[in-house]
Amino acid sequence: MEEDNQGKKYDLIATEFAKMRDSFYREQKYLDLLMSYLQPNAHILDIGCGSGYPIAAYLIEHGFQVTGVDGSKELLNIAQIKCPTLHTICGDIRTVTIDHKYDAILEWWCLFHIPKHDHAKMISRFGTWLKPGGFLEFTTGDHEYADKSSDMLNQELSFYSLEPTSYEEYLKENGFKILLRENDQEHHMVWIAQKQ
Ligand SMILES: C[S@@+](CC[C@H](N)C(=O)[O-])C[C@H]1O[C@@H](n2cnc3c(N)ncnc32)[C@H](O)[C@@H]1O
Repeated sequence: MEEDNQGKKYDLIATEFAKMRDSFYREQKYLDLLMSYLQPNAHILDIGCGSGYPIAAYLIEHGFQVTGVDGSKELLNIAQIKCPTLHTICGDIRTVTIDHKYDAILEWWCLFHIPKHDHAKMISRFGTWLKPGGFLEFTTGDHEYADKSSDMLNQELSFYSLEPTSYEEYLKENGFKILLRENDQEHHMVWIAQKQ
């Protein structure tokens, strides 16, 4: 059965999630690295931006224009309060229409809610949303899995990843050069790639 937009599940826990997601974990170093590649005032698309905090807020604080796309209307409402200059788009990242081309795309802890069979399509979509020379930073697992868990706020959520070799293949197929591929923590990887 096709997995629903899990943003709708975040609607049910939006206030609690936003309270819980009140600080950086290990991502600040990787945001700094992404920003180091960009021109001042570059426009970044934050995929699965959630409450906008801490990630979009940090990018905005550094002078970047940020558009956040998320499947949870409730989280986007919170994001607009926390980050009044954030542009927002509500929709399922697998199907939402985005016509603009960005200087960079950042995806943090969202792709893992997308079923495995859609990951190739998502890498291709990321490519279509970037300008030539644009940068993509995204996160995955470091092995293939498909799990369900209610660990977060007792809300059952699904989690997926492919093997890293699959992402390498999809990035190459879509004209990306891989600049970084490393574990930031056990079983979790951060990738940076540039569209050629
Ligand atoms: C673990 S949260 C991460 C939020 C944010 N990136 C952060 O690091 O705080 C996952 C986010 O992905 C969004 N999401 C899950 N499935 C989605 C989908 N199919 N389309 C759009 N957003 C989705 C959720 O609504 C939620 O905001």
